[in-house]
Formats: sequence, structure tokens, C-alpha cells
Amino acid sequence: MSLHIGAEKGQIAETVLMPGDPLRAEWAAHKFLENVECVNRVRGMLGFTGTWRGNRVTIQGSGMGMPSLSIYANELLKDYGAKTLIRIGSCGGMQKSVGIRDVIVAMTASTLSTPSIGMFREINFAPTANYELLRNAVASAERKGVTHHVGGIYSADVFYDERPDLNEQMTRHGILAVEMEAAELYILAARYQARALAVLTVSDHLQTGEALSADERETSFGDMVEMALEAAFPDA
Ligand code: HPA
Repeated sequence: MSLHIGAEKGQIAETVLMPGDPLRAEWAAHKFLENVECVNRVRGMLGFTGTWRGNRVTIQGSGMGMPSLSIYANELLKDYGAKTLIRIGSCGGMQKSVGIRDVIVAMTASTLSTPSIGMFREINFAPTANYELLRNAVASAERKGVTHHVGGIYSADVFYDERPDLNEQMTRHGILAVEMEAAELYILAARYQARALAVLTVSDHLQTGEALSADERETSFGDMVEMALEAAFPDA
């Protein structure tokens, strides 16, 4: 057991998929994995371990925002020895070329989050995805015919943003989308010599104001889970 995860040592797989929503973790585990066991219920942040094509996988909710994700990712890496963490979630489109429902494979994650600034101070550390996972995720999207974009995203600290100028600067600099977790995931993976990637569905668009319905979110979420599993286990 760690402070916020109730699983015994050995109940967490080396590969962990991390949706923000714990109920999505439950849905994905039962839809895509075999031999599923619930390994965490602490604070309702559900986690499940099972197998996918014979490979052990944990799907653990991260909660929303970097402070929440940071707690779970830290404990998965430090206390359970996780080696590969893949965020699956939603994001807001920031470029006209990015459509609603498209999938973003996040190569980098810019942020002004407090975990990052508190840690690196005057250095602008560049949180970066693991290349092997990124390449495998792109290959999976190509095989599935999923419309996808590869590039930089922005990990914000607030959803209800009072600094629209920051979003404008991100858009001006080619950032594809905004979400709230990936930068901290990439920083922690770097710190613990692990691999990380974020695969994100565009659920809303900052410029067009479009948004996905709940049903559409579920279908596109399934595509992301498969992309994440194929990224982690390209030969399975
Ligand atoms: N902002 C921040 N995070 C998000 C958004 C957004 O518009 N959409 C999905 N996650």
C-alpha cells in the first residue's frame, strides 16, 4: 500500500494507463482487459489490473489537474515500480487545423504549473514524451484510420481560465491543444527514468466552441485505450 493507493505490492502492472476519470478506468478495464481485479478504491480513485493479449496492465484514475495526477504517478513510479505511464484523456483544441474528435499525440507539454516551477525555478525544462511510445501510438492511429496530430500541447492549471492571453500565446506558437495533466506526467517519468505518453481526444474547441456529446466521448475514448495499449505492446 502507498499513501493514496490501496493495492498490495505486485498488484500494479509495470504498464499503467491513466484516465482522469476513475469511472472511465472501470469502463476501460472491463471492456478491454481480461482477468480484471479492482486494486484501488481509496478516495474512489478506482484502479484495475488485468491482462491485454497476455500482457499485464493497470488502469488507474489520475483525477483532474497536475496536483492530483502527481500524487498517483509519484506513488506508481516510486512505490510500485511502474515503468510506462500513458495518459488517456480529453483536451481542448487550440488550432483551426485540429478538429473535434481528432486525437492528439502529445510530443511535448508546455506548462506554468506550480509543480514544475517549484522544482525547476529559472530553468524552462521541456517535458517530453517517450519517443518509442509516441511512434507506436502514431502507427496504431494510422492502422485504425484515426485522424490524429502529433505536436506540442499546453498543460494548464485551471479549466476556467482568467488568462486568455496565455491561450493566445500558445495558439500563436503552434500548440495543438490544452489539457491539465500531461506536463507533470512527463516530468515525473523523466525523474524516475520511466516512459510516458499522453493520447488525448479533442472534446471541445477553444476557437469554434464545439463540444463532443457524452456518447461521442465514450466511442472516442475506446479508440484512445486501444492506441495506448498498442503503443505499450506493439508486438502483441
Ligand atoms: N481546457 C483545459 N482542459 C481541458 C479542456 C479545456 O478546454 N478540454 C478538455 N480538457
